[in-house]
Amino acid sequence: PNASFRLDPAFTIAPVSRRTFGSFVEHMGRCVYTGIYEPTHATADADGFRQDVLALTRELGVSTVRYPGGNFVSGYRWEDGIGPVADRPVRRDLAWHSLETNEVGIDEFMRWAGKAGVEVMYALNLGTRGVAEALDVQEYLNHPDRTRLAELRRSHGADKPYGISMFCLGNELDGPWQTGHKTAYEYGRLAAETARAMRAAEPDLELVACGSSSSSMPTFAAWESEVLELTYDQVDYISAHAYYEPFDGDIGSFLASAVDMDHFINSVVATADSIGAKLKSRKRLKISFDEWNVWYQTRFQATRETEWQVAPRVIEDSYNVTDAVVVGSLLISLLRHSDRVTAACQAQLVNVIAPIRTEPGGPAWRQTIFHPFAITSRLAKGAVLRVEPDSPVYATERYGDVPVVDAVATHDPDSGDVTIFAVNRSQDSATDLTVSLAGFGGALRVAESWTVHDDDPNATNTATDPDRVTAVPLSPASLSSASLSSASVADGELRVS
Ligand code: AHR
Repeated sequence: PNASFRLDPAFTIAPVSRRTFGSFVEHMGRCVYTGIYEPTHATADADGFRQDVLALTRELGVSTVRYPGGNFVSGYRWEDGIGPVADRPVRRDLAWHSLETNEVGIDEFMRWAGKAGVEVMYALNLGTRGVAEALDVQEYLNHPDRTRLAELRRSHGADKPYGISMFCLGNELDGPWQTGHKTAYEYGRLAAETARAMRAAEPDLELVACGSSSSSMPTFAAWESEVLELTYDQVDYISAHAYYEPFDGDIGSFLASAVDMDHFINSVVATADSIGAKLKSRKRLKISFDEWNVWYQTRFQATRETEWQVAPRVIEDSYNVTDAVVVGSLLISLLRHSDRVTAACQAQLVNVIAPIRTEPGGPAWRQTIFHPFAITSRLAKGAVLRVEPDSPVYATERYGDVPVVDAVATHDPDSGDVTIFAVNRSQDSATDLTVSLAGFGGALRVAESWTVHDDDPNATNTATDPDRVTAVPLSPASLSSASLSSASVADGELRVS
C-alpha cells in the first residue's frame, strides 16, 4: 500500500511545547522506592538515587515530571516527607493499599529532579485537604525566606525557593475511587478558592483544574462544564487522562487508539470553549494531558489488593512492539494538538506502567515504549506542521474506518530541520510513504531515519534481554528532487532535514 502527504513550512499549528514530553512519578508500587530511589543499589549516589535510572531518564528526554500522585496524592500529607528521615511517619496509602515510609519527600524529589534536569509539576491534595494545606505547601516550596515554612525549608538545606510554577489542583476527583471524591460543584468551588488564594501570593502560577479521569466516565463533559464555570478565570489548564489497551484481542482498534485521543481532545476543547463563550471570556484554556499511556488495566483488576506492603509490585506492565506503535501514535496525536495541549505526562516513569523498568539490586532497562518517546522528544523542534495524509484505511470495531498511516511533522526555522513522525498501523504489511517537500525549496537531505519495528509484534524487552526491541536505522529513506519517496514506514519515525 501507498500513503502520501504534502509538507509546507507555512502550514503551522503551534510551537512544539517541551512540556509535551512530560512524565509522572507517583508514590505508587515501585516507581519511587527501588525505582528512582534505592540507597543500597550499586549505582546509588550519595542521595540514594539510582544513577542508572537517572541516565535513562535523561536519555528518554523527559521535560516535566508530575509528582507525587495520582490517586496517592488525595490522601497525602506533604509534611510527612520533610525533615529528618528517622522522624518521618509510616502511613497507610489508601489508594494503593500499601505502606508509605516517607523516606522520599519533596526535598529529596527536588534534588532528584535537579539531577535529572526536569521541571516539577506539583499535584496538590484536594481530596482530604483544602485551601490551607495548599497554601502551606506553596509557601514551603516557593516563598523565599522569613516565613515559618520558608525558613523550615531553608533549615532542610534548600536555601533558595524551588520556584515551582505549575500546580495540579488535585487529581481525578470525579472518580468514586478517589479518596475525598467530590461532585463537580464541590470540586469546582474548592479548586477556584484554592487557586484564588495561591494567586494572591504568586499571580503568575500555572494552575490545572481536574478534568474527567477518562472520557468514558458517565459525567464526562458535564464535569468539565460545571468545573470550568466555577474556575474559568482562575485556572490555565483543564486536565485529561487516557489509558489504552486491546480489548478481546482487537488489535486493529488498539492500534487506532489515537483516533480516540484526537476525539477526546477535541471534545474537551469544545467543552472548554463553550464555557468561555458563555462567560464572554476571550481566554483560551489549555489542556494538560497529564496521564496517558498504554495500560493493561483489565489484568490489573484481579491484583488490586497489595495488603499493606512497602513498594509492592503494582501494574508493572511489560510492553511489546504493538504497544510501542500505539505510544508513537499517541505522541503524534498530542503533537498535532499543540495549539491546545501544551503539557502532557506519560504515566508513569519507572516500573509502574513505565518506559523504564528496574529490578531491586539489579538492572534498569528500556521497555519498547521508551524508544518512540525518546526519538520524538529528541527530534520534535520548532513548529508543528499540519499534515493531512492520503492513506489507505482499514476497518476497526471501535472507530470505523481508520487511516493505516498517521503522521505529523515539525520544522525548526532556525536550524532548517524538518522531522516526520509516522506510524504504520497495518498488522501485515509495510506501507510506502511519499512526502512532497516542494514547499521547502529543494534544500533538504536525509540526516537520520529510525524505525521501531520487529517481525514479532509481541516481542518485549526483559532484564535478561533488554535490547530485543530498539530503534533501528530505517532504510531505504531516499530523497529525490523535492520528494521523499517510498521510504518504507514500518511502525516508526523518520527524519528528513
Ligand atoms: O497512573 C496510575 C493511576 O491512574 C493514577 O494514580 C490515577 O490518577 C489514575 O487513575
